[in-house]
Amino acid sequence: MKSLPHARIARFATKAMAGLAAFTLAISASAQKFENLALTPPMGWNSWNTFESAIDEDLIKETAQAMIDSGMRDAGYVYIVIDDCWSLRERDAEGNLVADPEKFPSGMKALADYLHERGFKLGMYADAGKTTCAGYPGSQGHEYQDARTFAAWGVDYLKYDWCATGTRDPIEAYTTMRDALYAAGRPIVFSICEWGDNDPWLWAQDIGHLWRISGDIYDCWDCEQEWSRGFKVILDRYHELKPSVVGRDGLGVYSGPDGWNDLDMLEVGNPGLSVAESRSHFTLWALIGSPLMAGNDVRSMSPEITEILTHPDVIAINQDPDGVAAWRFGIVPGKHQTWIKPLSDGDWAVCVLNTSDQEQRIEIEWHRMERALSGEFEIHDVWNDVELGDTDTPLTAKIGSHDVLLMRLSPKR
Ligand code: GLA
Repeated sequence: MKSLPHARIARFATKAMAGLAAFTLAISASAQKFENLALTPPMGWNSWNTFESAIDEDLIKETAQAMIDSGMRDAGYVYIVIDDCWSLRERDAEGNLVADPEKFPSGMKALADYLHERGFKLGMYADAGKTTCAGYPGSQGHEYQDARTFAAWGVDYLKYDWCATGTRDPIEAYTTMRDALYAAGRPIVFSICEWGDNDPWLWAQDIGHLWRISGDIYDCWDCEQEWSRGFKVILDRYHELKPSVVGRDGLGVYSGPDGWNDLDMLEVGNPGLSVAESRSHFTLWALIGSPLMAGNDVRSMSPEITEILTHPDVIAINQDPDGVAAWRFGIVPGKHQTWIKPLSDGDWAVCVLNTSDQEQRIEIEWHRMERALSGEFEIHDVWNDVELGDTDTPLTAKIGSHDVLLMRLSPKR
């Protein structure tokens, strides 16, 4: 399913985008997105990365139970998102979307009730074009009707994809669905899945709560095909789209409470990643403030993967109320990268990612980071839960291949 042909649209010039944005604002002055629904990056689980079209009601209920049993729900993963392939191939005689009765015999309203009773929220998937990426009915021309359907079912989150959109203007398309959701009256987190083709970070803040910055993720370190790529490729793209070593002009400036750069659903725990790679992937997504949407089979995950996904101190970095995104502070190409993020209590998260195929011995001379870190700090190794001294002396450490050293620095008293 990941190799499905995707309708691509032409890139717009930034100037034209600015003009369109002004026009859109003018015609929709009375409409808005539901505010304050995503003050920290949304957390949950999405069916696509592991199950693609093999979804049904039993899977969703078993996943919910596993998320309760593993501690994921209580760690903050509350959105359970049913991705593509949930509907019938045709709308009904009145033009309504219909959940496939073989996959979802109780219907979506009953499933939403089931999830709500257990402390979850229901997310669903639709598409701004004629069809979804897997060929199911798209919402183009049915936006208000579909928004009413989702609201009536008790949906809390909508991922809105970009397949089969032809020459449609993305700002118009996503604004139309935003307005339709608002008119339907049920607060719904709006997830813009336009793959970063038209620089959504420049226009999406007033429309949705998160926006993808790339095509689809895949469970590998740095493999790359036309429509799927490893998390290291997305990480590099995130930096290269708007490079910054001081954090003031990188892509992160567009991201924050109620509007997040979305680096795509997690591949943590999926077979193509080692445990170290899952840890690195999770750490970087947490630091950058990406939504944390698990994409593995949580019914059968190992204790190490459960520990990664539920680590309270890493999640706390992602959910920090200030929502400042990490930026790449330094790189030794082919060896390691350093990412840093200021936290609301005056602490800093500092992460060194070993990008090489070998274990690396690193040395951090803290005075070289004075541009960002002023003062003296005590150092806590977050994953290993040990103290590493303070920033008065250089730090040496060994980091395994594709693994991370994640530190939380607290001002010395
Ligand atoms: C696109 C999206 C994916 C997934 C699939 C479903 O590729 O980017 O995240 O939703 O469609 O078909």
